[in-house]
Order: sequence, then structure tokens, then C-alpha cells
Amino acid sequence: MLNLRSDYTPPAFFVRATHLDISIHADHTAVVTRLDVMRNAAASDCQLRLNGCELALQALTIDGALVPEADWQLDEAGLTLSDLPDHCVVETTAHIHPDKNTALEGLYLSGGMYCTQCEPEGFRRIGFYPDRPDVMSEFTVRIEAGIEFPQLLSNGNLVETGAAGDERHYAIWHDPHPKPSYLFACVVGDLDCAADQFVTASGRTVDLHIYVEKGNLDLTGHAMDSLKRSMKWDEERFGLEYDLDLFQIVAVSHFNMGAMENKGLNIFNSKYVLADTRTATDGDLHNVESIVAHEYFHNWTGNRVTCRDWFQLTLKEGLTVYRDQCFSADMHDEGVQRASDVSMLRMAQFPEDRSPTAHPIRPESYQEINNFYTATVYEKGAEVIRMLAEYLGRDGFRQGMDLYFERHDGNAVTCDDFVAALADATGIDLKAFHRWYEQAGTPTVAVSRTVNDAEGWVELCFRQSVPETAAATPRAPLPVPVRLGFIGANGASLTTRRDGDAVAADEHVLLIDAAETKVRFHGTDGAAPSLLRGFSAPVILEDDLTDAERLHLMVHDTDTFNRWDAAQTLAIGAITGTGDGAGLARAYQQILADDSLLDDFKADIMNLPGILVLETRMKPADPVALFARRRGLQAAIGTILADDVAAVLTPSRQAALRQTAGGRALLNQMLVFGVASGTDEAIAAAAEQVHDENMTLSQGALRALNDCDDPARITALQAFHDRWQDTPLVMEKWFQMEAMSSIGGSIAHLKELMQHPAYDPNNPNKVRSVLGAFMSGNPTHFYAADGSGYAFIAEQLIDLDGRNPQVAARMALPLTRMASYGAERQAQMMAALATVQAGCQSTGLREVVEKALAAGA
Ligand code: TRP
Ligand code: ZN
Repeated sequence: MLNLRSDYTPPAFFVRATHLDISIHADHTAVVTRLDVMRNAAASDCQLRLNGCELALQALTIDGALVPEADWQLDEAGLTLSDLPDHCVVETTAHIHPDKNTALEGLYLSGGMYCTQCEPEGFRRIGFYPDRPDVMSEFTVRIEAGIEFPQLLSNGNLVETGAAGDERHYAIWHDPHPKPSYLFACVVGDLDCAADQFVTASGRTVDLHIYVEKGNLDLTGHAMDSLKRSMKWDEERFGLEYDLDLFQIVAVSHFNMGAMENKGLNIFNSKYVLADTRTATDGDLHNVESIVAHEYFHNWTGNRVTCRDWFQLTLKEGLTVYRDQCFSADMHDEGVQRASDVSMLRMAQFPEDRSPTAHPIRPESYQEINNFYTATVYEKGAEVIRMLAEYLGRDGFRQGMDLYFERHDGNAVTCDDFVAALADATGIDLKAFHRWYEQAGTPTVAVSRTVNDAEGWVELCFRQSVPETAAATPRAPLPVPVRLGFIGANGASLTTRRDGDAVAADEHVLLIDAAETKVRFHGTDGAAPSLLRGFSAPVILEDDLTDAERLHLMVHDTDTFNRWDAAQTLAIGAITGTGDGAGLARAYQQILADDSLLDDFKADIMNLPGILVLETRMKPADPVALFARRRGLQAAIGTILADDVAAVLTPSRQAALRQTAGGRALLNQMLVFGVASGTDEAIAAAAEQVHDENMTLSQGALRALNDCDDPARITALQAFHDRWQDTPLVMEKWFQMEAMSSIGGSIAHLKELMQHPAYDPNNPNKVRSVLGAFMSGNPTHFYAADGSGYAFIAEQLIDLDGRNPQVAARMALPLTRMASYGAERQAQMMAALATVQAGCQSTGLREVVEKALAAGA
């Protein structure tokens, strides 16, 4: 069914109170939903729709009176109730089978524990309910199970526990905050609990519980610390306090995504909870921190104020990603964080925007809403919030957020409501920004210069264009904030005066909102313009800077992000053009010698852009060739930086670098160059570092060796395997390395990996570690000229679709991104997509595949 944003109608009934009764038995689970419903006078519909999916309805009563089965209006999507009084109590009893649930939506078993995933439409797989986010209700939940499951958890406050006879017990929970069904959660298991407390700004003590599978308590410290830092940050930055006496996190091993913000009971993919320096890399620890923060921040942006309908998903996701990015920037380094966020945007969202599944951050239509938890809704959504926040300034944005909560607390609202709160609080007209919600596609901003040295000015001409996309949305010019400055020939930041301004400034912010805009700056004598500082808008910038100017900015710009970005652009040129990388390598040497820079930043600036970024600069793009050229550039740089690599590998320098996350990142990056250039010393150093107790160093060494055709690679992988074979989360890293290796990661080898005892086809992390890593990290074999990579993936997608359609649809995306490739490769990909279309069962996978087939036809 195609859902349209324009089709929204308010619900016919509200639910004044929800009573849930969940009783878990070995062979089934019984779910009673008792709903106190009230007619919505404002609605045009008069029937009550209770969604229900794969539920065995046992009984239905209205105000206590049994409705005979012959009168049930039941279809595969749920129950329809007609001719109801304006107020009544509707009760249903349904049976479900969590042990057979491999889709991981609704109630399912994972590692012996029962857990739920309801967003967006999972609740309807648990019980009959108006499963839509604009129906918010106070929940009281009774859970009953055998005493072999000590934990019976749900949202809100625990109000009662007791025995339920015959080795069974129960718990009753009440959540005082009305919520939509998608925020419901329940967990039943035998778990270890890490407990701590947080005292809020107003002096309330909140209990913090992190539940993990038995034996994992020693891996919860980082998540707990991250949670406390998040709680404090949200109080300080946005004045937002936690609103219950208990905050719970449960880590589960089978999970479709990262984590879920259920009210007072967040459920996490265990990969984003369980971590210490021995089992997780610094990058993993960073992800744990930012995801714990993200889910916690949802308590206000998502839970207290939620979405009216799923078209508004970016209302909560874009805003919450923006908030977690700001948090990470405050906890670490702003410039380094920005570079990593933008790199992610370019690697995931820009490709989506030019693909058959392109959509605006607020989509206009969907068949399967699960397909819209995308980089566009999340990451581009966050960029739009960032532009608004920068435009209003920190205080203005805070005033807008305050008004948003004041107006909408406890409600389900739209993106328009959000923008209106910002505009009303500040008195600033934000009308033009609405286009960012309506239009798909990454705009290109081309900048050309007219220089008049005699008169000492430069004129910048900005031309923006919005591309045509598969979403076929309007293509009007967008408001694009461009922050810019000038760096003089001596390396210093210049104070320049914008034509029309009275005073000169170091930095200017322009709002480019027309197809063409010209702006003149005075006092720019011989300077290089530093444009789109901090990546002030999610656009593709095409400027007319020379390589020499970029090298100059890379070393001297006052804007950290633009130093990194200048290096990225130079690297793209060296890989896709004629450059030999020598100039870039010499600039790296200057960066390495600059003691004022963080090691983290040095490591990042030397990290070459990924294949998905490089593809945009080659027509037609050949990912296999790009991988080889990228590797060639790494080798060339390694040769030029031989002395620098050797210096980093001396015992004393190594010992110093190993002490900090930045140092480890730098050490790993230098190993990549050293190993790529093939020096025995670097290969030996990497081979030894694989055995390190610190996971960042161990995995970093493996990564460096992974594309190196040397026996050291095989020995290292084997050693890593043997050391971690009994630790499933770490084995995911081993699977990834094996699947991504351009040397060893053949399809025959992938098939072997999928037979390994640590592989579990029902565990999304394991599937992603092999198939996902292969598609995104092994271009040599996935894009092999004979088409074998696509054919193999097609077969796997059909198989996966039968077990977990949500993950299958997501995993299909790389196969749909073919526009930049040559005709032969496109034909092979289309053939694979046709195979998937013929074999797929789910509407979700079909939606993705058919969009791609239509675009490629
Ligand atoms: N709302 C979750 C978040 O962004 C993401 C989410 C949506 C999700 N659907 C899911 C997580 C299904 C797991 C499974 O934080
Ligand atoms: Zn989220």
C-alpha cells in the first residue's frame, strides 16, 4: 500500500488509558490489551481501527460484553470496530510466538531473553492497538513469566511485584507520561544489572540500570559514564532534565539497528553498550557514547514531544542527531567531530540522494516506513537543523527550543510546528527553509572568482543548482548559508569588508538563496578564499581554487574543518586525476610537524576519501579501479613519508603515541602508509601490533595488513581469530576483516565464513559483518567485472528476506546505487535486482528493488 503524506487524517478515537497484560509461556505468549477509548470529535472517520499483524485473536469484548467471533471484522491488517459508543472499553486477547520471530519486530527472543522492538509499527505484532504515533496514552503493564526469568521490565515506574503461583511471578509497571505505542517496551530475562545514580539539576535522584547478558558486567562502565555525561549535558545546554526516577538500558545481541529510545527503557544492540579498551576500539567507544547520548536525548526530542505521523520522522531523528553531534563535539574536539560527521554524510547520504531511493528529509510517500530510517532523514535532517541553529545563533535556537517544548510537550506534532516555534520565538522569518524539507537531492554550489588586484577586491559569484532525483520533487533554489573567510599569502587570516558593510571582519556568513548571487569583498589582497567553513550547508561545493591554494589552506586555514576538507579535495584530485600526491605528502609532513594540532586531527587529515566519494569524480565510475588507485596513492605517500613512518615506529615514539586515542589513530594511519608502500619494517610492526592488548591497536594493525598480499596478513587474522573465537562481539570484527579483504575476501571465502560456528544467520550484526562489510568495504570483489558479486548478494537477499525483511531491504541498497557506473556493470546489477524481485516476499524489499528497476529501465 502506498501511504501519502497528504492523506493524513486524525484518529477516530483516542485512548485514554492502556492496560496491557503480557503472560509468557514456553509455547506461546498471551497478550491482553484493555483500552479505554474516547471518540475524537474532530475526526471524520467513525470506525476504530486496531492494527494487528500475525496475531491469533482469542477474545474480544466491548464494555465487558463478549463479541461473538462471527461478528469480528478481522483482516490481515487488524480489527475494525463500528458503531461504538463515544466512550467504551475495548479488550482483546491475542496469542503470539516470540520464539519464532526472526524479523526482530514486536516481541522476540534473543539469547534466552524476551525483548521488544516497536518503532515504527512493531506494536501491532504484540497486541491489537491503534498503532500510530498520534495516539498517546498512559500505559499500565502487567508482565507475568516463570521465575527462571527474574527480570520483568517495562516503561515508567515499578508499582507492584508478586508470586503468580506454580513457579511464576509478575510485575506491574506504570508510565505516567502518555506515549504512543511505538515507545512501549518490555524485557523478560535473567540478566546482570549495573546500577548507578544521577542527581538532576533540581536535586532528584535517578536510578540508572544497565542490564546485560550474564558475565558482561565489566563491560558496562563506559556506557554508564556516557549516560551520566549525556544527562548533565542536556541540562546545561538545553535545560532539559530527566523526568522519571528510573532510567534503564538493556543490551541485546539480536537487534535490527543501533538502539531504541523506549520511554525509560532504552533497548540497545549489545555492540553499542558492551565495550572496554580490550574488546572495543576507540571508534567503538566513541559510538557507544554518542548512541547512549542519542537515545537519552530522545527523551525530550521524540518522547515528550513526538511525531504526528511517520512522514515527520526527521522531526525527532534529525533534531536528535544534531543534538548528539553537538554533545560529541563538546566532549571531544569540534573540528575533528565535524570532519567525521561530514565524511559520514558524504559516504552515506550524498550517495542516497543520487540513488533510486532518493527522498526529501520529510518524504512524501512510502510503502514500508522501515525503509525511511535513512541517512537522509537522520544525517541530512541533522544538517537542516544545524543550518537553522546557526542562522538563529545559539541563544536564538535555545529560545526556539524552549518555545517548542512549552507549546508541544505531551503532543504529537509536525516539522512545520517545529520550524514555527523557532520562527515565533525569535521573530525571524524561516519560510525559505521549508524547501529543505520538501526537496530531495544535494544542491551544487559553484563559486567562481573575479579578482581585481589593482583595486584590492575579489568578487565571488555563487551559482546553485538542485539536481533532478528519483523523488522528482521541486528544484527551486534553497537558502544556503555560506560561512567564509580569507587566508593571506603569509598564512594569516585577513580582515575583509563585504561590499555594503560598514566594517571589516575575519569571517562572513552569506545566505545564498537565489540561483545566482554575486558578492564583493574588499581587502582580499592575494588571499585564498576559505569557503563553506565548518561545512555550513549540506551541498557540493565546486570552487575554482588551485592546488597551490588548497595546500596553503590545508596548512594555514583557521577553520579546522576546511583544513581537513582541503586535504580531502587534494586527495580526490590525486586519485582521480593526474596528481602524483607528492604535494599532498609534503603537506602531510608539515601537518605532522605542527605541535599545535591534535593527533586525532593529524590522523583524520591523512585518511584518504572513500570509494563512494571518489566515484563522483570519475565518469563512468569504476570502483575496482578506484580502489586500486587509492591503494596506489597510499603506497606512494608511504614511500615519500618513509622517514616519518620510521620515526613513528621507534620504540619511544610508539610508546608515547599508544597512550592516547589520538596517538593510536595516528600510529594506525602511519602503519597504513608504511604497509601500503611494502616496507618490511612496517609489515613487521603491524604483524606484532595485532597481538596488542588494546583493541584499537590490534584492529588498526589488521586493517593495515588486510589488503597486503603477504603471509603476515593470514597469520595475523588467524591469531586474532584464535584469541577471540569465544567472544561473539569481537568475532564480528574478524568477520568484517575477512569479508573486506581485497586479497582474501572472495565469494568462495564468504561462503566459508557463513559456515563458521560463530556465524548466526539470524543475528543482524553477523549478517552485516559479512555481507554488509563485503558490499561497502570490498569493492574489488563486490564490483568484480564478471558480475559474480551482485549475483551472490541477490541470492543472499532472497534468503535473508524470508527471515528478516527489514534488514534485507536495508542490505539491498548498495545494489541499487548504479547510476554512476558503466553500462555493462549497470546491466549486471539490474539482472541481480530482477532476480531479487522475482524471489522476494516482503513489501519492504520489493519497494527498494522496484524503485531501482524503474530508475534503471
Ligand atoms: N528510533 C531509533 C533511533 O534512532 C531507531 C529505530 C527505528 C530502530 N526503528 C528501529 C532501532 C528498529 C531498532 C529497530 O534511535
Ligand atoms: Zn533516533
